[in-house]
Amino acid sequence: MNILIFGATSGIGRALAHQYVNRENNVAITGRRQELLDKIKAKNPKKYLSIKHDIREVDFIPQIIQQVHKTFGNIDLIIVNAGIGKYNLDLDWHICESVINTNIIGVTRAMTESYNYFIQQQKGHLVNVSSVASLMGNGTNPSYNASKAFQANFMEGLWIKAKKSKKTNINITDIRPGFVDTKLAQGETFWLADVDTAAKQIIRAIRKKKKIAYITKRWCLIAWLLKRMPNFLLKKM
Ligand SMILES: NC(=O)c1ccc[n+]([C@@H]2O[C@H](COP(=O)([O-])OP(=O)(O)OC[C@H]3O[C@@H](n4cnc5c(N)ncnc54)[C@H](OP(=O)(O)O)[C@@H]3O)[C@@H](O)[C@H]2O)c1
Repeated sequence: MNILIFGATSGIGRALAHQYVNRENNVAITGRRQELLDKIKAKNPKKYLSIKHDIREVDFIPQIIQQVHKTFGNIDLIIVNAGIGKYNLDLDWHICESVINTNIIGVTRAMTESYNYFIQQQKGHLVNVSSVASLMGNGTNPSYNASKAFQANFMEGLWIKAKKSKKTNINITDIRPGFVDTKLAQGETFWLADVDTAAKQIIRAIRKKKKIAYITKRWCLIAWLLKRMPNFLLKKM
């Protein structure tokens, strides 16, 4: 398979790239940190293509897809994983703005260009890494949860669109991790999964062409509870 992962210099994206390359796939990785891109590519220069890119520079996204297409011949799977999440106890607008620019503007452009690329080739699999956070508001980081709700909703829209399109074979998967042991998790300990286990479960969900997958699987219980959470409990979270 030929794969493009937006945001693969660390954490979940890097673990996914690593596991896919170990399974003999070609993987293009993006991110802002050149030194990390170089380090990952050096592990298997024939299988990795690395492209330095800030997802907020949205007008370069079509070029990235074209570059990967030209290098590999086609793209079978695109995973939009890039994301940030920062505590914002004082409701600082600049933190909200950076989350919106990355997780909404950048990610939505990546999802849109990827979907349209797959429409042109009439097949492909688009995956976005949203979050269990998409299911509820968050008093300490409102823009992060809201951005993930946007992503999950947008992906459902693409899933409906793809299902209606009779002439194409496009799969859409929304990955919703709980807590995974990366810098972004910022010291969370509850049901914390290690990145390799999370990546393994994500790859399995992609192979099964799931519409939505909770990572790790037991987070579907939390998802079920969150959808039914009464306000008096929500206030305590
Ligand atoms: N860890 C968790 O508990 C958890 C839970 C639910 C959802 N998620 C989601 O999982 C995804 C991956 O996060 P992670 O936990 O693996 O954290 P991470 O280690 O911080 O990885 C984030 C990745 O996104 C990239 N990225 C961030 N901003 C970017 C930008 N402006 N342009 C391009 N790439 C950018 C980073 O690359 P550069 O810094 O090099 O640009 C890095 O490769 C995120 O979307 C996150 O919201 C994580």
